[in-house]
Amino acid sequence: MASARPGAAIDNGPLIREIDFAPFKMRVSADRYRDPEYHARERERLWMRCWQVAGRQEELPEPGDWKVYTLFDQSWLLVRGKDGTIRGFVNACRHRGNAFCQGKGHSARFTCPYHNWTYGLDGALLAVARPDFDGTIEDFVGDKDELGLIQVPVDVFAGFIFLNPDPAAEPLLDYLGEVADLLRPYKLDEMVPVGLNVREAIDCNWKVIQDAFQEGYHIQGVHPELIPAMDESKERYGFFGDHSVATGPFGASNMVDLSPDEQVAVIRALPGTFPAVAQALPRFEALVEQCRDASGELHFTDQTGVRQLLQQATRETWTAQGLDVSGLTDTQMSDNHFHTVFPHLFMTIRGGECTTILSWPHPDGDPNRCVWHVINLMWLPPEQRRAAMEPLLEIAEGDHFTYFLPLEQDWEQMQHQQNGLRNRTLKETVLTKQEVRLAHYHAVLDAWLERGRNG
Ligand code: FES
Ligand SMILES: [Fe+2]
Repeated sequence: MASARPGAAIDNGPLIREIDFAPFKMRVSADRYRDPEYHARERERLWMRCWQVAGRQEELPEPGDWKVYTLFDQSWLLVRGKDGTIRGFVNACRHRGNAFCQGKGHSARFTCPYHNWTYGLDGALLAVARPDFDGTIEDFVGDKDELGLIQVPVDVFAGFIFLNPDPAAEPLLDYLGEVADLLRPYKLDEMVPVGLNVREAIDCNWKVIQDAFQEGYHIQGVHPELIPAMDESKERYGFFGDHSVATGPFGASNMVDLSPDEQVAVIRALPGTFPAVAQALPRFEALVEQCRDASGELHFTDQTGVRQLLQQATRETWTAQGLDVSGLTDTQMSDNHFHTVFPHLFMTIRGGECTTILSWPHPDGDPNRCVWHVINLMWLPPEQRRAAMEPLLEIAEGDHFTYFLPLEQDWEQMQHQQNGLRNRTLKETVLTKQEVRLAHYHAVLDAWLERGRNG
């Protein structure tokens, strides 16, 4: 039933020519990509107050699994408790502030190596070393219950561990709003990293990355090989609070001049760019065969073109594997949906798969640099997930991982853009209509920086 599919809201979203551009400011200050003062304000007003992705739930599969999440000079401990809940704590011992955890690990409890104060997985202070030295704990440190680790808001959605450094943060689901309803049917929480899970530093501002993935305008310049597969004239847009989405329809009108066999060839070539399409190809080929007449000639109609066949094949393939795609629309079966969860989570999602691009300011504090993390998430039957899971690959500074072609093209381009943005005589950048999501994104950022989200 269409009404049971939240994605219908995006299927019916506006095309570019239907968007009212009056509220959008189509110029963006260049300082935000390079200015240390802007960067400092961003740190205090945005990063120290916003929900941000600190990891994936499958990184902490068992109670007692923990990892440290850092941003700038701040560090927090994420730990899965005995009750299965993932909690976040400031990584500072309540005794004299030691950052007692480094990296990741598994523990039944945490003992600060400085003077051996011990905390439970729930952050409670369990024991103080040598309490009998001069009485009980309470005698000399006060109420033990008051001296647990400082907790910060942490929640898990779509398999991502979100953390907010602000103890007064609104609930994550309130912040996500309608986007949570749009994302739920994809079952991202049942996906795991497959084939690609890489984190490395890159020489551009963290927003240059988020910008680049929010527009299809650069396909002609940077990714010409994608042109046959995409139909930009049919992109749909959606704006939901701080967040936004656009669709990337596989070529429909682009194909009008192609013969049926040539159209089939375009679909067959898709896995070169979108590997998971390969899974649906056997079923797709079978459906194509049903469209041949007695002489073997292919005949498509408006209702049964390659696009519809790909959608049907994808739905049937995933369903056969055990993924419930009943909450997804046909468009979500075939077309990439480009989601931006403000400020730094970008996802290209199709039924059964999601390429995630995260970016954070670089720990060295230089606004011209950042860290990005690329994760290819894929749905797999539960019993296959652990074995197929791609471990995180952290690339050393100065080295570079070679990605699949379009991502490699973006990697190079974004650093060229930053080199231009460093130029102080460039005051602002100018957006075209197809970059309307950037206008929305930077207006949201302006609002955070001007007043802070909570006033
Ligand atoms: S600083 Fe942690 S026990 Fe002293
Ligand atoms: Fe790109």
